[in-house]
Amino acid sequence: MSHNRIALITILLASMSAITACVQATDAGSAHTDTAAAAAAVVVAANGLPPVVVHKSPSCGCCTHWVDHLRQSGFEVTVRDVDNLDPVKTRVGIPPGKGSCHTAEVAGYFVEGHVPATDIKRLLAERPDARGLALPGMPLGSPGMEVPDGTVQPYAVELVARDGTTGVFSRHGGEDAEATSP
Ligand code: CU
Ligand code: CU
Repeated sequence: MSHNRIALITILLASMSAITACVQATDAGSAHTDTAAAAAAVVVAANGLPPVVVHKSPSCGCCTHWVDHLRQSGFEVTVRDVDNLDPVKTRVGIPPGKGSCHTAEVAGYFVEGHVPATDIKRLLAERPDARGLALPGMPLGSPGMEVPDGTVQPYAVELVARDGTTGVFSRHGGEDAEATSP
């Protein structure tokens, strides 16, 4: 177990450098970078999960529910409310047509939309060479999009490769539900 933790910390330290470089390449304030790095050091020591930064609109209710889902799953989350998410989506490389209501960043990856925390943990464990995960739109029943009757519209989380191409990373909610086009 300790071997895993040491390996994970090594990976995280490397990815934190990548995040810092990325942030410095933009016009974002350096104070944010310092905050993220400090949060990372604390969280890695606590449970091995890197911190998540979520960019969202101040009025987005389902975004807040997704943030709650991440926190309940053990992630330390920093929320940044912004009126216009387009510059963030452009900076991190969300491909056209793959956008959703919020954009998160974790360990050098983006996480676009209502992606389940289990998929984020798998991403962090497998460390594929990719830009991140995207769940386009806002499928009913995905984390933060739950409905009272428990309906889960089948949906697929996509892995976005470095070149912007996508492939299915995971499928959810499709077992006994009727398939619908994504
Ligand atoms: Cu949403
Ligand atoms: Cu959202």
